[in-house]
Amino acid sequence: MSKFEYTIGKEVDLKEEWEKTLRDEGLHSNIILRCMYAVMDVIYGRAREIDKFLVIEILARYPYWAWEVGSYLRLTRQYANPNFATKAGSDAAWRHINLGRKSQDNEQWHMFILEDLMRQRGMKRGFVKHFVLPRLMAFGYYVLTRVMYRFWPAWSFDMNARFESHAEREYAHAVKDHPEWEAEEIDTEYFEYYPKVRTLADLFRRISLDERDHKHESWEEYERITGREFRP
Ligand SMILES: [Fe+2]
Ligand SMILES: [Fe+2]
Repeated sequence: MSKFEYTIGKEVDLKEEWEKTLRDEGLHSNIILRCMYAVMDVIYGRAREIDKFLVIEILARYPYWAWEVGSYLRLTRQYANPNFATKAGSDAAWRHINLGRKSQDNEQWHMFILEDLMRQRGMKRGFVKHFVLPRLMAFGYYVLTRVMYRFWPAWSFDMNARFESHAEREYAHAVKDHPEWEAEEIDTEYFEYYPKVRTLADLFRRISLDERDHKHESWEEYERITGREFRP
C-alpha cells in the first residue's frame, strides 16, 4: 500500500492538482542539482520556455535508464555466480527494472510531444544550444546516474526525487507564467502514446503531475531500500 496518491492513468482535476503544486515548496535540492540548474539558467535563460523543457526531458530519462541497465547487469552478476541468488535481491532488481522502464517511457513521451510542438511552431533550434550542449549534458548525466546507481543506489533515488520535485514545480510555474497557454489549443501525433489534452496549459499541468508521481516513486523507493524516512 502506497502512502502517496498516484495520478498516472487516472482522471484527475488538472487545475486542482496544479494549484496544489503551486502551493508546494518542493524538495530541497542538493549541490549537484543546484549547479545543474544554474548551468541550465545560464545557457537557456531563466524563462520557462518549451525549448528549455525539451532539454530537461532529454536528461530526465537517464536515471531511469541507469536503474534498468544497472539492475539488469546486477542480475547477471547474481545469476552467473557460484552462490545462489536471493529472492530479496531479485525482487529489488525487478522493481527497479520495472520502475525504470515505465518512467523512462513516460519521460520519452514528454520529449516526443515537446519537440513536436516546437516543430509545429517553427521554433528555431540552435546548433550549440540544441545539439552540442544537450549531447554533452546527456553524456555527463548518463555517467553520473550510472555510477551513482551502481555504488550508492539510495542516493540515486534521493537525488531523483529532488530533481523530479523541481521539474514538477517548473512545469506548474510555466503555466502561471504563460496565461496565454490556456487558450492555445494543441494536437500532436504523439497523443497516440499519451493522454490527450486540449490546451498547452493542460499539457504542462499533466506533465507536472507525471513528474510528481516520479518524485513520489523515488521517495518511496529510497525509504524501502534504506528503511529510513526520506528527508524533504
Ligand atoms: Fe518529464
Ligand atoms: Fe520525471
